[in-house]
Amino acid sequence: MNFADSEVVGAILRDAGHCLAESVDGADFVLINTCAIRDNAEQRVRHRVRELRAQQGRNKRLRIGILGCMAERLQSRLMAEEDNVSFVCGPDSYRRLPQLMAQVREGQRGAEVELSTTETYADIEPVRLASNGISAYISIMRGCQNYCSYCVVPYTRGRERSRDPQTIVAEARGLFERGYKEVTLLGQNVNSYRFDNVGFPELMAMVAEVSSLLRVRFATSHPKDLSNELLEVMARYPNICRCIHLPVQSGSNRMLKLMNRKYTVEWYLDRMAAIRHYMPDCSITTDVIAGFCSETLEDHEATLELFRKVRYDYAYMFKYSQREGTYAAKHLPDDIADEEKTRRLNEIIALQGQIALENNRQEVGREYEVLVEGESHRSKEQLFGRNSQNKVLVFDRRDAVPGTYRKVKVTDCTAATLIGELCD
Ligand code: 5AD
Ligand code: SF4
Repeated sequence: MNFADSEVVGAILRDAGHCLAESVDGADFVLINTCAIRDNAEQRVRHRVRELRAQQGRNKRLRIGILGCMAERLQSRLMAEEDNVSFVCGPDSYRRLPQLMAQVREGQRGAEVELSTTETYADIEPVRLASNGISAYISIMRGCQNYCSYCVVPYTRGRERSRDPQTIVAEARGLFERGYKEVTLLGQNVNSYRFDNVGFPELMAMVAEVSSLLRVRFATSHPKDLSNELLEVMARYPNICRCIHLPVQSGSNRMLKLMNRKYTVEWYLDRMAAIRHYMPDCSITTDVIAGFCSETLEDHEATLELFRKVRYDYAYMFKYSQREGTYAAKHLPDDIADEEKTRRLNEIIALQGQIALENNRQEVGREYEVLVEGESHRSKEQLFGRNSQNKVLVFDRRDAVPGTYRKVKVTDCTAATLIGELCD
């Protein structure tokens, strides 16, 4: 999401006459787009801001601006705590950045942190800042009002609002015409996308119709809203990727209730069965939190048990981090010791690593259509790409070129990567 937002910021600044600096040494501004979801994300930003002090010593014109969720959460407090920060700008105020930066050039400091109920940046064509020219993000909605009890996002990104589908389809078409082969539709909870009479399944169909050669992905879905209607649309279009990211957060009903997730483990498993019914070859990935308030060993064991049942292809695994202002911070004591959170997290990581490896071993011998993305990190002689399931395949280059589809047969694997060879 921040990656996509930075590309919107890039477009706003370019239209205001700014350009990208070659390095920090020649720059007038460094803008840091931030995440507030866990404390360690914020600590990394603070570290970076302090590191930039040395550069500011050498380059007296250099001003630092903090964008995104951390700016929204801390507002001018952040400028008081980090005195080399000149301005903060929240996620709904990016159109005001040019004025804010002009003000800062005159020697003032400033904060733009108002949240909006309507801003979607629908009319802004993002500058594809770090894109490989093959795959791009399209933001389709902003904000979240699910209020999971641990989560700061509803406070930093505001109310949910959806972007006009015509502008989304036009952006996808424009990308395809420029040679892009894959788009990922982004939102905090894409299943609750709605603009007039267009819901998420209809939107997916509209984007999939742009071209059968354009792959369509999406993130993130909330299990409570994952409908059969969406699964039917996915199954109907082979270019909608066979991969669903469905954050579970915990395998214990008691925890899910405390987390205000609004579903049970039974409901979640029913959704897993539905996914496999409509698309037997669909990969499933998740997010999970270890050591949430009052989590017992039994609750933790229930999470491990769920992982054994579902057998995810990939999981993002986190330790609970208390966030000021959330329901949990106000009403639920953060009572699991940090070492115990780490121990539980490591247990989940070890189990998931083993499952991912076992899943990948089953892939040996299968053939996949792979969108070739670029050179492998290990060797110039090898390329990598992804299959529809979003698994990375590495293979000898031969005559393959990035940006094309090729058939690849899996010959070997690790827990994270499939190793293969070109079939034709
Ligand atoms: N502590 C730890 N993990 C969190 N997440 C959200 N809030 C917190 C928190 N306070 C995780 C959830 C979510 C992912 C984006 O980040 O798993 O799905
Ligand atoms: Fe946070 Fe829950 Fe919204 Fe996801 S759905 S952004 S976890 S409040």
